Amino acid sequence: MRTGLVIDRLLAWYGTHNRHVPWRGETDPYRVWVGEVMAQQTRIGTVATYYERFLERFPTLPALAAARLDEVLKAWEGMGYYGRARRLHMAAREVMAEYGGDVPDDPAALRALPGIGPYTAGAIASLAFGRAEPAIDGNVRRVLSRLFDLELPDRSRLEAAARELLASGRGDAASVNQALMDLGSDICRPRNPACEACPLGSSCLARARGAVESRPPPRARRSVPHQNVGVGVVRRAELVLIARRPESGLLGGLWEFPGGKVETGESPADAVRRELMEEIGIEIEVGDLIERVDQAYSHLRVTLYFHAAVYVAGDPQAHAASEARWVDPKTLGDYAFPAASHSIVSRLSQ
Ligand code: ADE
Repeated sequence: MRTGLVIDRLLAWYGTHNRHVPWRGETDPYRVWVGEVMAQQTRIGTVATYYERFLERFPTLPALAAARLDEVLKAWEGMGYYGRARRLHMAAREVMAEYGGDVPDDPAALRALPGIGPYTAGAIASLAFGRAEPAIDGNVRRVLSRLFDLELPDRSRLEAAARELLASGRGDAASVNQALMDLGSDICRPRNPACEACPLGSSCLARARGAVESRPPPRARRSVPHQNVGVGVVRRAELVLIARRPESGLLGGLWEFPGGKVETGESPADAVRRELMEEIGIEIEVGDLIERVDQAYSHLRVTLYFHAAVYVAGDPQAHAASEARWVDPKTLGDYAFPAASHSIVSRLSQ
């Protein structure tokens, strides 16, 4: 492959087309890092508003490292996949402790930090530090699989292909990597790729062989389990009960209305009654179903049944299993809640 020509055409295309990525051109590694972590599971268009808000709140890595997890989760609220925020926070503290606050430019050192995989390490190293490192996300994987007609696009073949392009001696790594990402999202699409408009069309091996649609091969889909969850919106006079989730695991560190998994043979209302006794140590009377919410996480789908409930007896503070609080509903906005609770939170806090 004439990689010099490929890169010239790719960069000429990149120069004329315009995709708004808020951290494009940014060389502060902290700002690139935050953007790339947000973009791991959230569309760039959605990321933009959160990105600016988050960086106003935590403008530097030391500011993020000094913050409490609660504050970080609150700034992340609405984007989901909160593990990203927890790991970013943890990693910021690690960079303070191990590197005096300077983000390392070495991909292996970056990968050793919480929440940074090969893609994000390559993106930070190339975008912020200009290092000729591959940054292979799903879009780039597809572009490389087709351009080089890779039958088995495993990591080592993809990295070799990316390094070949980066080593052509043309263009900076930040532009080459981001041009590949943009080409994958706008031209070299999974279905109905716009090959006739592709600047690399005449070099594309899969196109020449009529194999574009079969590159890359589809990944096997794993089935996602489903759970019913009963949740209690428990009132005691003017107050409502909230509990904080353990820091490890799904939605770790977020606040929620307490509840838990509906076991076989139970109704959601039964589950609420049992969970509140087991987990919080209080007796309640469960009332009407207020709302039913379907929510999908990366490895789990849940249906939440929110029931109204009133306090009968017991002291949540005396129970060690979780951190629970009676709060004035008007203050609910101060706590970070998972998306599934947002409509109830906004109704109660008005
Ligand atoms: N997706 C994630 N990061 C990106 C970037 N820097 N440019 C284009 N697409 C992206």
